[in-house]
Amino acid sequence: MIKIGHRGAKGYVAENTLASFQKAIDLIVDGIELDVHLSSNGEIMVIHDETIDRTTNGNGFVKDFTSVELKQFGIPTLTEVLDLMNHNFFVNIELKSNDSAEKVIDLIEKYVSENNWDYENFMISSFLWANLEIVSQKNKKIKIGVLSEDSIEIALTFAKEVKAFSVNPYFKLLNPENVKLMHNEGFQIHTWTVNSPEDITFVKSLLVDGIISDFPDKI
Ligand code: G3P
Ligand code: CA
Repeated sequence: MIKIGHRGAKGYVAENTLASFQKAIDLIVDGIELDVHLSSNGEIMVIHDETIDRTTNGNGFVKDFTSVELKQFGIPTLTEVLDLMNHNFFVNIELKSNDSAEKVIDLIEKYVSENNWDYENFMISSFLWANLEIVSQKNKKIKIGVLSEDSIEIALTFAKEVKAFSVNPYFKLLNPENVKLMHNEGFQIHTWTVNSPEDITFVKSLLVDGIISDFPDKI
């Protein structure tokens, strides 16, 4: 079972910032989860929302700012985050929009071919499953995580279609029966966002494969 820091170490440091990813490293995670959107000049930016309103002191849509402007608001590029992380960490890149799949695939391929990273250490996940079809068509070596917050059954059907690596369900959907079903179908289970000690104990008892938490040191 691997420990994955949600948006870095969101429980301790402002989410999806370089400081948050450094905190996750300091807490000795196995990996991190992060969210991406594209800037106006096509850079892959690490931010959860489609606007910068909630997490910075600015206002407006990510897609309307250049990467230089977004960096001034404290929003890192995916390249900066990967360069901070040692290539032995697992990185789950969640696509939050429908325009970034190709660019993220290209960047992963570059890090594998030029920067000593391994495909093992990357996953692309999304609730927007059309993105995952693109990944499946363009590069079968990249692990796919099928995010679901409402139906494991439907997620499992889609996971088979795109030959996903894992199903990534909201933890409250899990029970011993559906965990067994997903494992029997050959999928790993990376569940989110598991924060309380009781909930962490619960998902550990189910023998999931990855736990995504704001407090990865508590896993
Ligand atoms: O990848 C799991 C989790 O991050 C999905 O929900 O809203 O935190 O991106 P959210
Ligand atoms: Ca996320």
